[in-house]
Amino acid sequence: MRPVVIAANWKMHTTPAEAGELARLIAARTREPDVVRVICPPFVCLAAVRDALLDEPVAIGAQTVHHEARGAFTGMISAEMLVGLASWVIVGHSERRRDAGETDEIIGRQLGRALDAGLRPILCVGEQLDDREAGRAETVVERQLRGALTGHDPVRLGEAGLVVAYEPVWAIGTGRSAHGADAAAMADAVRGAMGNLGWGAAADAVPVLYGGSVTSANIEEFLAEPAIDGALVGGASLKADEMAGIVGRAGITARARSTARARTAGSGAR
Ligand code: 13P
Repeated sequence: MRPVVIAANWKMHTTPAEAGELARLIAARTREPDVVRVICPPFVCLAAVRDALLDEPVAIGAQTVHHEARGAFTGMISAEMLVGLASWVIVGHSERRRDAGETDEIIGRQLGRALDAGLRPILCVGEQLDDREAGRAETVVERQLRGALTGHDPVRLGEAGLVVAYEPVWAIGTGRSAHGADAAAMADAVRGAMGNLGWGAAADAVPVLYGGSVTSANIEEFLAEPAIDGALVGGASLKADEMAGIVGRAGITARARSTARARTAGSGAR
């Protein structure tokens, strides 16, 4: 049974003082016990957000992590440093691939560091616009998955609760989101590719989120797709009203899915 997850990626927004306040507000406006909520603030805001959320069941994530465990890497943050501040970590975000030159191989090593430190990874994949227009979207995402996941034990990653976020690059920050059906087809492609990478049936248990211009107005289109288990939200996650709408809708989905599952299990038992 896959959880419904709404993760907020605040990117390079908020000061520590603003972050604590915003986290508190969002937490109070999104109390949906059936939805896994995650907030990923900038590194320097992690402590403020942790302190603001001490009494709230909202998980905290980092936005990236260095691929080495420690060493002479000025300005970088290791997985070990995040322990006590974050329990999740985003790896492979397209803005890191673009701005920090992160390759699939580096992202695979980041996954390894996350696992070593007990952090739950959200692995981002997604194609560029020209890839989609040329009909290469699935091939690109499969290559990204193979590059990052090869060499990792599916059982270990599964136990760590690996989440994949499908974020088409052309949909990020553009106001132009994917169609729900296309995103669902990509979620199926993600699980298919993982199945081929040695995950077998375990690929079906991996939550796949959609990311790219998600708002309270369009979240329904994605959650209506059984293949999609939630969203990785950028711009809209900085607004408490938007998060209230998004998580509220996710709560309806989570309850409907668990009722449907209980019904199926009940009919199987008879
Ligand atoms: P936007 O929701 O701002 O398009 O960003 C999506 C994203 O990159 C989340 O990681």
